Amino acid sequence: MKVIVIGASRGIGLQFVQQYRDAGAQVTATARSDDGLARITALGAQALRLDVAHAAGASALAWPIDGERFDVAIVNAGVYGPRSSGLEPPSQAEFDAVMHTNVLGAMRVLPTLAEALAPGARLAVISSRMGSMALRANPSGWLYRASKAALNSVLKDVSLALAGRATCVALHPGWVRTDMGGAEADLDVADAVAGMRRTLAALQPADNGGFFNFDGQPLAW
Ligand SMILES: NC(=O)c1ccc[n+]([C@@H]2O[C@H](COP(=O)([O-])OP(=O)(O)OC[C@H]3O[C@@H](n4cnc5c(N)ncnc54)[C@H](OP(=O)(O)O)[C@@H]3O)[C@@H](O)[C@H]2O)c1
Repeated sequence: MKVIVIGASRGIGLQFVQQYRDAGAQVTATARSDDGLARITALGAQALRLDVAHAAGASALAWPIDGERFDVAIVNAGVYGPRSSGLEPPSQAEFDAVMHTNVLGAMRVLPTLAEALAPGARLAVISSRMGSMALRANPSGWLYRASKAALNSVLKDVSLALAGRATCVALHPGWVRTDMGGAEADLDVADAVAGMRRTLAALQPADNGGFFNFDGQPLAW
């Protein structure tokens, strides 16, 4: 099995690399720092330098994966941005940083990944239930929420473009103990990723364009 993970320097992305390597998969993974690249290489994966927020970096992904046929592709890179609780307007810089990473970054790498999938591949964006309109109960982190809602829209279009070729889903990893999730979060990163791997492995073609919790339960958009 061949797997690619975009944004794998630490946290959930690095855990995907570790678990797929432990399962014997051939893994390609990206990071934007030397430390991140070294952590990927140490797990026996091929490391590629990529900052999804930079146009040149994203286009540079095309040649190293040209001709590859990945069975699983995961777009994980993401930032939270300002820890707002109400309707505090983000600064232009905060808005650009979050939207460029979580939305524009995905829109740059997904077309490249789409060209490098094995028939019947599974493609996931790591979204968040914070992006769900239907499940939302408070406005905290509204910039992050807006970015994940937009990412969900992007995923839906990818699923339409790749229908019949790949099964494309948005995944909520749970609230996970990482740098982003914090120490108080519910889930250990190993459990969250093990759940998402099981969910990806169990996907059926009819799941294309769906939004799923890490444990495989469907989520409302
Ligand atoms: N933890 C949670 O509870 C939780 C809940 C819902 C959804 N998520 C989502 O899960 C994903 C992973 O989160 P995490 O908890 O593992 O967060 P994390 O520990 O903060 O890791 C974020 C990852 O994204 C990478 N990244 C950020 N900006 C990037 C860019 N411009 N180009 C390339 N890579 C970039 C980081 O690389 P650097 O090391 O270079 O910064 C790092 O590898 C994110 O999309 C997040 O929104 C997390």
